Amino acid sequence: MHSRDEDSASQSKSFPEETHSSRRHFLSQLAALSASLTIAVPGARAASSKERSNPEASDPERPESLIDIVLKVNGQEKRLKVDSRVTLLDAVRDRLNMSGTKKGCDHGACGACTVLVDGKRVLSCLTLAVMAQGKEVITIEGLAHGDELHPVQAAFVTCDGFQCGYCTPGQIVSAVGCIGEGHTRSDSEIREFMSGNLCRCGAYPNIVQAIKQAAIEMKGAAS
Ligand code: FES
Ligand code: FES
Repeated sequence: MHSRDEDSASQSKSFPEETHSSRRHFLSQLAALSASLTIAVPGARAASSKERSNPEASDPERPESLIDIVLKVNGQEKRLKVDSRVTLLDAVRDRLNMSGTKKGCDHGACGACTVLVDGKRVLSCLTLAVMAQGKEVITIEGLAHGDELHPVQAAFVTCDGFQCGYCTPGQIVSAVGCIGEGHTRSDSEIREFMSGNLCRCGAYPNIVQAIKQAAIEMKGAAS
């Protein structure tokens, strides 16, 4: 892990108040809508990108690779029949139609696919769906309560913690984990423990501000 490049601060843009307002409206809608571990499988080849994008695809020469699994996602049990090599990311996005979790690099390098598994941050692109059985999976869609945004989602809106928004679901879920871990004692600590989540737009200063704000609010709510 390494600290954020300080130059990223210079990439944060200033906007007139009217633009802020319309952006906040857009981002608020986006947040509402879009309401790690590496697992090596001995002897198993990696699923091809075509197989990954179609979790039901199986190797015709290996029909035994199609299995029934039960995933508990955002409190609801979901029964799926998937190739045993399908990732949790593809199962959630393509089978459960929860597209809030984003596929960025698909190689464990960007953090866009971050979800919580039993409360811990994991990269769903590097996690086999089958390994998530019997565990609580929380995606970005599971954070809000109806129309009420999670404090971290609300803080990202008020602090303008996003620009294009593509990295944002992963940033928010990771921030929930970061706050839960108690790694919010300073800006540098937040940057360090959020360093696995990349933002090409360079919204880092506002993301740090949002996490600080949400951590204070959540701490106050808990006490
Ligand atoms: Fe998983 Fe980039 S898509 S780390
Ligand atoms: Fe665009 Fe982070 S807001 S990549």
